[in-house]
Amino acid sequence: METIYQRMGAEELAAAIAALEAEVAEVTAKGLKLDMARGKPSPEQVAISRPLLDVLSSSADLMDEGVDCSNYGCFEGIPSARRLAGSFLGVPAGQTIVLGSSSLNIMQSVLVHYWEKGVPGYTPWRKLESVKFLCPVPGYDRHFGLTQDLGIENIPVRMTPTGPDMDEVERLVAEDSSIKGMFCVPKYSNPTGITYSDETVRRLATMKCAAPDFRIVWDNAYCVHDLTDHGDKLLNIHDVALEAGNEDRVLEFASTSKITFPGAGVAFFGSSFANMAEVSRTLQVGLISANKLNQLAHARFLPTMDALHAHMAKHAEFLRPRFALVQEKLRDGLGETGCATWTNPNGGYFVSFDSQPGSAKRIVALCLQMGVKLTPAGATWPYGIDPEDTNIRIAPTYPSLEELGAALDILVLATKLVCAQLASEERA
Ligand SMILES: Cc1ncc(COP(=O)(O)O)c(C=O)c1O
Repeated sequence: METIYQRMGAEELAAAIAALEAEVAEVTAKGLKLDMARGKPSPEQVAISRPLLDVLSSSADLMDEGVDCSNYGCFEGIPSARRLAGSFLGVPAGQTIVLGSSSLNIMQSVLVHYWEKGVPGYTPWRKLESVKFLCPVPGYDRHFGLTQDLGIENIPVRMTPTGPDMDEVERLVAEDSSIKGMFCVPKYSNPTGITYSDETVRRLATMKCAAPDFRIVWDNAYCVHDLTDHGDKLLNIHDVALEAGNEDRVLEFASTSKITFPGAGVAFFGSSFANMAEVSRTLQVGLISANKLNQLAHARFLPTMDALHAHMAKHAEFLRPRFALVQEKLRDGLGETGCATWTNPNGGYFVSFDSQPGSAKRIVALCLQMGVKLTPAGATWPYGIDPEDTNIRIAPTYPSLEELGAALDILVLATKLVCAQLASEERA
């Protein structure tokens, strides 16, 4: 798309750049310190969950349906927490395990397990000449870090408004048996905020894969994180996979990190009975049981899905004005300029912002100069390399509304100046 700066005559463009540079100098002089990089809830939001800390006390009943939560045992998680996990993940409670606080940590354990020992019946991934994973982009940098750390090659696949480009995914997995898996954040994807369409979910669950040990890391981190009562609906992938005989393909993860306490919640893993039993055998070698007192507190704090949705509605009250402000500031500042496009999600934690090719790194650097920290440009791509250098992840949840507004004004200003400079450089 042509920008307003590309359409300007030479003199008009030079004047526009001079005016924008003057504005940048003025803002830089203010010495601001704002942060729009962190995908975490604000302190006021986290405080909503403080009553959870009062659920247990020295005099509380610490039994959960016959399980003593104050002692070893029950590796797979206490019954009430597994029921909660089942509701989250869309599988029967018996097909879940509830572990420590981090879903990312379980993902790593499972991938390391397949790397070391292989999917049962198949060669351990570490013994293969080449192992690849599909990485929808823009995507979540920590996913890409898990596979990169093991020496697995990350292959980017473009996101579309309905999920990953499925023609490309199907083509790649059908012809290359070294592609052993794929990362998916199917609801309110990080960072685009899009939810996979029913058709995308069906195609993922049923597609023909050259690798019989192909696995989907179905990271449903934002499965209940709607901004309104009319959130996106995600098709249950386990049901479709089961019908197609592919139930072992899907490894689902979630946690209460952005529901109760980030880093101190509970994390869930759900998959086929066979996968659960097999993966559990290895995990149990290094863990007698997870923190069941925390599981008990969570299960009592969020005893039903209605209680959970009421809790999430409180989070949404904090989040809605922030996401609305992002749309307002970007629309007012950049809407008519052709300089950028951005997503408008119904939930989750991020907005994905794309500017002109070759602009993202410069915009992020210019924002930093003006006192606004953003997620590094490139972070949304494997190896930190965004080939077109367009994408920036906006994380609007942590700053106060006032700080967020100021940070967005600066992002708008930086985007305009960089796009104006690019238009001028094109002509040189
Ligand atoms: C898609 C996604 N998955 C996982 C995580 C981390 O989850 P946890 O705290 O359960 O490890 C995040 C955190 O931002 C995330 O965005």
